[in-house]
Amino acid sequence: MEIYKSKVMGFCYGVRRALKIAEKAADSGIKAVTFGPIIHNPQVVEKLAQRGIPAVDNFDGLTDETVIIRSHGVGPSCYNMLKCKNLALMDATCPFVRRNQEMAHRLVEDGKQVILIGEKRHPEMKSVAEWAVGHSYQVETMEDVDALPPLDEAYIVTQTTFSAVLADRLVEALGKKVKNLHVNKSICDATMQRQQAARELADRVDVMIVIGGRNSANTSRLAEICGEEGARTYHIETAGELKPSWFHSRDKIGITAGASTPDWIIEEVVCIMENMKEMLDQEEMNLDVHKGSVVEGKVVDLTDDKA
Ligand code: F3S
Repeated sequence: MEIYKSKVMGFCYGVRRALKIAEKAADSGIKAVTFGPIIHNPQVVEKLAQRGIPAVDNFDGLTDETVIIRSHGVGPSCYNMLKCKNLALMDATCPFVRRNQEMAHRLVEDGKQVILIGEKRHPEMKSVAEWAVGHSYQVETMEDVDALPPLDEAYIVTQTTFSAVLADRLVEALGKKVKNLHVNKSICDATMQRQQAARELADRVDVMIVIGGRNSANTSRLAEICGEEGARTYHIETAGELKPSWFHSRDKIGITAGASTPDWIIEEVVCIMENMKEMLDQEEMNLDVHKGSVVEGKVVDLTDDKA
């Protein structure tokens, strides 16, 4: 069994930045909450809660807490609500998400029609849609493209963590539907690099282990990509989910992780995988001995007692 790690995986700039903001709040001892999970990783969110910074999904009952805005961003109604409630805020919106929000908002203010490509239920998409309210369509699938009304002109804004391949397919289909289509590929570099590295690795291994929150869009995309490349793919959140029965002793195994997966979880998975490798290699060696095959350059034949 051989184990390969993806050349790019784990925390991205936006996630590190968001956690730095939350940890600063925890270190300073202020009373703070995050609005929604700050990143899509339940283990990290749990650790923050243990440090006194829980995630909340509304502002009811908050009086003097500081509200930390999640990395996926929020719409204008949230900022207004915080102002009305006189609550302090720390903004951990990823700058690349912010860029999408500002772009969508500016386009709408200029009277343009916006098409948002991404997962409709993802918080980033919801937030960007709110900044472009009344002048945007959301497109996630080919069916959404089919359902669009005829448009003379539209501007595309793409969810930062969307699949690059699917975005290209949707843009191509939209190009046939919208007379004058302005394409902005706003998938962030961190997503592009992780998707590309995962695709390359999945192409040359038998099994891929993809580590990250099940609610993480970018991790789910990585798992889809690995599956598309033909690798047996397992999406796990923690090392505890690994099963020896997933692997054969001669498998090549690739490991990758989403942009919201912390190093400590990746390290635990790699450690357990290395233990499994040792176990499976040992079993393979024992089998070879019994078959009388070559082990470490020597012919071993126990049946003749010549070993
Ligand atoms: Fe930001 Fe991209 Fe990470 S949008 S949070 S840098 S995956």
